[in-house]
Amino acid sequence: MKVYVTLCLSLCVYLREALAKSDSNAIPEDKDVLVLTKSNFIRALKQYNQLLVHFYAPLSGQSLGSILEFREAAGALKEAESDVRLGGVDVKKEKDLADSLNVTIIPSIRLYLSGDKNNPVHCPVLKSSASILTWLKRRKGPSADIISDVTELEKFIGEDELVVLGLFKDLEEGMVKVFYETAADIADLPFGVTAHDKIFSKYEISGDTVFLIRKSKPDKQFEMESSTVKTDLVQFIRLYEMELVTEYNGVTASKILNSAVLNHLLLFINKSEERFEEIYHAFKTTAETFRGKVLFVIIDVSELRNGRIMEYFRVRPEEAPQVRMVNLSDNVQYQLPSDQFDAHSLLEFCLTYLEGKAKPKLQSEPIPENWDTQPVKELVGMNFEKVAFNHEKNVIVLFYAPWSSESRALFPLWEDLAEHFSENEDVVVAKIDVTANDVNLHLGEKYPVIKLFPAVYTERVVPYSGKRKLKPIVTFMNKEIEKAKKDKAKEEKMRKKILDEQKAAAKEEL
Ligand SMILES: *[C@@H]1O[C@H](CO)[C@@H](O)[C@H](O)[C@H]1NC(C)=O
Ligand SMILES: *[C@@H]1O[C@H](CO)[C@@H](O)[C@H](O)[C@H]1NC(C)=O
Ligand SMILES: *[C@@H]1O[C@H](CO)[C@@H](O)[C@H](O)[C@H]1NC(C)=O
Repeated sequence: MKVYVTLCLSLCVYLREALAKSDSNAIPEDKDVLVLTKSNFIRALKQYNQLLVHFYAPLSGQSLGSILEFREAAGALKEAESDVRLGGVDVKKEKDLADSLNVTIIPSIRLYLSGDKNNPVHCPVLKSSASILTWLKRRKGPSADIISDVTELEKFIGEDELVVLGLFKDLEEGMVKVFYETAADIADLPFGVTAHDKIFSKYEISGDTVFLIRKSKPDKQFEMESSTVKTDLVQFIRLYEMELVTEYNGVTASKILNSAVLNHLLLFINKSEERFEEIYHAFKTTAETFRGKVLFVIIDVSELRNGRIMEYFRVRPEEAPQVRMVNLSDNVQYQLPSDQFDAHSLLEFCLTYLEGKAKPKLQSEPIPENWDTQPVKELVGMNFEKVAFNHEKNVIVLFYAPWSSESRALFPLWEDLAEHFSENEDVVVAKIDVTANDVNLHLGEKYPVIKLFPAVYTERVVPYSGKRKLKPIVTFMNKEIEKAKKDKAKEEKMRKKILDEQKAAAKEEL
């Protein structure tokens, strides 16, 4: 998310500073996280008996949240004087190190023990600092709370909105082991286990069973079979842990963002508006059909605290109700192509999306007033294509991220470039904030990016990867402008020929 991106940037800047300041021997830290590199990794393994390492890519959406959570966990462990040290590896910078450690999934977290670099323990949960801490704790001790009577049960099930309760005849051997393994992995939920007769009869069961208990009431149950393995139980819990429809708020936000379900249908609505009950009902009915495939979330636009998320999705309160599908794997959004919010439209929309037939929504900021009166033109999603693919103009565009200092450093150069070409009517010098505006181009992960759109009829994009200095860019542009002139002359000849043929054919018809 954009907020995360911004936070990450300050983190990256901080990191660089931390590196610069460190003396040559000590392993540098970013806040409380060791900054691990090819040259210090082995040293860190030797120095710390338990080293929990976060492998991340700083600009990837999935890494961003975990970087902050990891840092928070590091702080908490340091405060608790834990034996576990936390370190981070930026896999973009430390590609060799990541390769040598066989790190293929980014982000991932591994626990290296006793200096052994070959057999780390894989940490499955990196969602919140609390769950990282719980995971470390559950690794060592019992992974579930033992419940020995009904009073303890009442206390346990009332402790959280959702808890996992295992009822097993034997708490040492057999299927309960699968339950313990599951508990160790799912560090973001409380796990309790019991063998107490009265609890078996309270829930009217006889065999080994796992319950999801919501608001102190059994919600779903899973009967353990001899063939049940950890992934079955994890899947069951992950599938049913969310309610059919979840309202976005401070408590549910991280659960929503970290759900195993990566398709989210968001309903932006004013909960006080007249049609709310009706629309909500349709939404919930549809949710049942797509359980496990699509997560249904409502966002109350009249709640001030939702300002940030609405800003992120660029939904204004007066535009509600609005329904968006978001693919969290690639962050592409889709808009419900209807102003009807009935079950039928929602169903159709979800099906179309899941079949890969929905059309993505392109995001854009509003077109800034006076966007074309300044020397450097400020583009947004809405006017980007029209300006860039204008066959009369050679358009050089700086694709930037406002939080990136590397991007901002190019702004003065862009002013100089605009100045340089100010007499040339055929050249447009422009820039666009790609964090706020979608463009239908592949830009890669790293900003800034520079591309030239030559003045030709066929849509053509020429990337610039030379020195970010005035002279080489001008040389590059002049060369491309000359080339475009020639190509365009050819295109025009071609077009004229086709036009003449069409005219001739039309005459013949007459
Ligand atoms: C990485 O994988 C290769 C091949 O599977 C193996 O030989 C090597 O020991 C692994 N290295 C580590 C650090 O796990
Ligand atoms: C939500 O609806 C209520 C009732 O119609 C209205 O008073 C309120 O201003 C609305 N809030 C927003 C943010 O539109
Ligand atoms: C979501 O995005 C991922 C990654 O681009 C893609 O593989 C997947 O098919 C998308 N899902 C849908 C339903 O479009």
